[in-house]
Amino acid sequence: LSKLGLVLVLGLMMLLTACGTSETGSTDSGNSGDSGASDEKKKLRIVTDAAYAPFESLEGDKVVGFDVDFIGAVLEEAGYEVVAPEHVGWDPLFIEIESEEADLAISAITINSDRQQTYDFSVPYFLSTNKILIPKDSDIKSGADLKGKKVAVQNGTTGQATAEAILGTNSTDIKKFENNNLAIQELLAGGADAVIADNTVIEEYAKNNPDQNLVVIADDSFEQEFYGVMFPKGSELKAEFDEAINKVFDSGKYEEIYEEWFGVAPDVENLKA
Ligand code: ARG
Repeated sequence: LSKLGLVLVLGLMMLLTACGTSETGSTDSGNSGDSGASDEKKKLRIVTDAAYAPFESLEGDKVVGFDVDFIGAVLEEAGYEVVAPEHVGWDPLFIEIESEEADLAISAITINSDRQQTYDFSVPYFLSTNKILIPKDSDIKSGADLKGKKVAVQNGTTGQATAEAILGTNSTDIKKFENNNLAIQELLAGGADAVIADNTVIEEYAKNNPDQNLVVIADDSFEQEFYGVMFPKGSELKAEFDEAINKVFDSGKYEEIYEEWFGVAPDVENLKA
């Protein structure tokens, strides 16, 4: 190796090392740079299915919704970097949490005993129930009227379970879709007579699309459900987040976010009961 060669190699090595160190600062926290290393916050990977407005939906490539603002307040409270959930889809989000590729999921996910076998959930943060979305001129008046009709649902949701309880588990009259918007499209296209999904989601949809002449009906036999933040089983984050969620309830922040999205005050006491 010539002297010149050696100098060149050494110079190159120094250059690479310099680049390397300035990069590594940002790899774990994602957001270094302006304010120095001391107040860098830990960053979590959060996943969702952003086809469930007003809880989570895509605005361009941004995920927005009640869940986004709520988890933002909780992250802030718990001392983590405030990040929006990443849209990965419904079935994938369960896989990502089970395999611990993601730290937590928020996606209007109902806490139920089935899921609790595989995942951990935070304390409840939202009260929901399934309802039925139908065309205004439909003769369907209750869940029982869905027998013999075609019902569209999002695959793997409590809406699917509700439809199965009426029509039977293997009923070919239940049409399952990857996301709830596709289930609604099926209804609009005439391929289904009804959609079963979370009340808030289909009520908002019917209200925001008056030209589509849809209405939502309730069936009192459909159960009350609570949403929770979902973690890998045994995650240490659960305790931390439960504490932060309770602080977000008590500080009035929850109420503020709720009113922003739903225009009415939440019943926080009912959630904590
Ligand atoms: N709450 C229902 C469930 O847990 C539906 C949730 C669907 N959420 C979504 N982001 N697509 O099964």
